[in-house]
Amino acid sequence: MRLVSTLLIVAAAAGLAGCGPGAGKDTPPLWIIPDMKVQEKYKPQQESPLFADRSASRRPVVGTVSQENYYEDEGYHFGIVNGQYIGKNPLEFNDKVLKHGQRKFNTYCSPCHDRTASGGGIVGKRAGAVFQPANLHKQEIRDKNDGELYSVASDGRRTMMGYRNQISDYDRWAVIAYLRVLQRAGGAKMEDVPENLRSEVR
Ligand code: HEC
Repeated sequence: MRLVSTLLIVAAAAGLAGCGPGAGKDTPPLWIIPDMKVQEKYKPQQESPLFADRSASRRPVVGTVSQENYYEDEGYHFGIVNGQYIGKNPLEFNDKVLKHGQRKFNTYCSPCHDRTASGGGIVGKRAGAVFQPANLHKQEIRDKNDGELYSVASDGRRTMMGYRNQISDYDRWAVIAYLRVLQRAGGAKMEDVPENLRSEVR
């Protein structure tokens, strides 16, 4: 008798498995205590008698400001104010900012642009002619202001994708500060090196 009832329980459990509400790969097959997924609610596009237009989905109240897409300082977030690139990097150039920018540049930009920013990173080498990272020492790129470079790093340009979602605002500005250092170093002359260090330059 005991064997029969055990078998019945096992069979019942097996039969119920996969029958839980919204059962899927990520949900438990059997919900003993239903969680908030199982509740009275309206789904998108559903009708509701509560409102005159019978639509359950309501528009935000007029004048609502999105917290997600509201930036007190648009220039800092986008590098653009009133359709114009902001000219100058808002960060102060100091050791901390530049070291931070170096770290982020080496992490995020160097796979394509290489650590010196000359565009010889591993990705371009493997991708061939179809995807060639730019040499960031080119005069036309040096001539761009900080806001434009920041905007490229944020939202991409032509074949380059943007890194807004991977790299924070502060980090992208630090990257641009460090990119200026690389550009400056790339065009440096012997006169730029302090005299006591010149003998060490090869
Ligand atoms: C996956 C590869 C890849 C990564 C990573 C990458 N870039 Fe690029 N980048 C490119 C390519 C390709 C181009 C050339 C785009 C074109 O002209 O079609 C480019 C072009 C540029 C340009 C020149 C845009 C212009 O006006 O011609 C700048 C500036 C730049 N990248 C900055 C950055 C910075 C800063 C980072 C790091 C945050 C970065 N890139 C990361 C591939 C990459």
